[in-house]
Amino acid sequence: MSLRVTDLRVEIGGRAVVDGISFEVPDGARVGLIGESGSGKSLTALAILGLLPDGARATGSVRWNDREILGLPDRDLARLRGDDIGMVFQEPRTALNPLHTVGRQIGESVRIHERVSRREALRRAVAEAGRVALPDPERIVSRYPHQLSGGQRQRVAIAMALACRPRLLIADEPTTALDVTIQAGVLSLLRELVQDAGMSLVFITHDLAVLAQVATHAVVLEHGRVVERGEVSELLRAPSSPITKALLRDATATLWHPEHPGRDAGTPTNPRGPSRAHGEAAAGEETP
Ligand SMILES: Nc1ncnc2c1ncn2[C@@H]1O[C@H](COP(=O)(O)OP(=O)(O)OP(=O)(O)O)[C@@H](O)[C@H]1O
Ligand SMILES: [Mg+2]
Repeated sequence: MSLRVTDLRVEIGGRAVVDGISFEVPDGARVGLIGESGSGKSLTALAILGLLPDGARATGSVRWNDREILGLPDRDLARLRGDDIGMVFQEPRTALNPLHTVGRQIGESVRIHERVSRREALRRAVAEAGRVALPDPERIVSRYPHQLSGGQRQRVAIAMALACRPRLLIADEPTTALDVTIQAGVLSLLRELVQDAGMSLVFITHDLAVLAQVATHAVVLEHGRVVERGEVSELLRAPSSPITKALLRDATATLWHPEHPGRDAGTPTNPRGPSRAHGEAAAGEETP
């Protein structure tokens, strides 16, 4: 269950906004894509998922389990997104339908994947809500998105992505809209869920401190190109490119600080955190 992106290019209006990116996510690995605003992170994710905006064209190769998925028909891609690859985006409001209860929406995610009755789907939604640590799951499923906090909405979006039991989760700045303490909670939850399920993760952020909480390896992007890659602990210890140095300077000090690394977070001293998903070690050791 690996993802291999090779020489990916995305052109919009004749401009190469992603300009030959290659990286690999072995089974169970947690890889971060990091770079400043406009470096091509989101378009890379959207190209992998087959969700590029109109007028954008992708070339190169995206292989999921040795199957080429770049350029697959929409129907096949939609199935892949429901079955194998889950996604969480930056702004949970856009992922959630304001007119439906969160229980119905999580339940729909279950139903995309499995043929179950609406009643059973709602029962599963309660379980999924509990899994992402939403308070009082039985009651929260009957609420509408606007009746939840930002952090709770993001947990709902994560629950929806994970309800299909994907093998790979792509999360694009899933906590950027949240304040720092809520952010830390959502990040550690995300990491635990991914680790426990032995899932692979592609995590997108512009914040190296956030990245260190969830990923073991990173790919640093600048102007649509890879400028540095390696283990997160190594990038934190000895960043080589000017952009990585700048990202390290700008990293959220409250989430991660060299003198006070969070104990169970993905930190330089313990980049994988305390518990490691079974079978993940070998994959994690490889450089993406
Ligand atoms: N729909 C679009 N039409 C034209 N240009 C676009 C479009 N979407 C993105 N771009 C351009 O492509 C480049 C990469 O955009 P992308 O959204 O991938 O950046 P990013 O790294 O995700 O940035 P951010 O951190 O701000 O989310 C940017 O220069 C952006 O202006
Ligand atoms: Mg983006």
